[in-house]
Amino acid sequence: MANKPFLTDIQTLRERARKHIENGAVTEGYSADRETVVKLLNEALATEIVCVLRYKRHYFMASGIHADGVAAEFLEHANDEQGHADEIAGRIVQLGGEPNFSPEGLLSRSHAEYVEGETLQDMIKEDLVAERIAIDSYREMITYMGNDDPTSRRMLEGILAVEEEHADDLVNLLGGLGK
Ligand SMILES: [Fe+2]
Ligand SMILES: [Fe+2]
Repeated sequence: MANKPFLTDIQTLRERARKHIENGAVTEGYSADRETVVKLLNEALATEIVCVLRYKRHYFMASGIHADGVAAEFLEHANDEQGHADEIAGRIVQLGGEPNFSPEGLLSRSHAEYVEGETLQDMIKEDLVAERIAIDSYREMITYMGNDDPTSRRMLEGILAVEEEHADDLVNLLGGLGK
């Protein structure tokens, strides 16, 4: 019981916790490169915002052409992406960073693109492409975080699972349209 060398002893834990308390959730044991993590999370934030905007555009355009079922799906995805953006922004602040909500450069920070699309089919395809980009970039970020920032990693894992559901929804929508 006394031999657990892989755990820091209580005295050291207590002393370390008292140092730099202004860093809040970021303790001395945080082994990730905080600046890089914040930068990656800001790219993820930009991606989510661009996805909100694209899904909103598609929602209103699909509503205009009375594709109500598809429109409802676009709206649901838009709301999910907004939720992701909020989660990510919250985590950036927790890490002592600043969430970048600036419209300037938004599209170049984002991994996914903003494509309006002409037809309903175009819209669904563009959304599917964007989801697939998000899926790959989240997977890479998750690998990067590894065990150095398990909280950010778990957040991204949760978001990744939702993006995979989105991609699956979109494939089914495409199938329903006969292509
Ligand atoms: Fe998302
Ligand atoms: Fe998504």
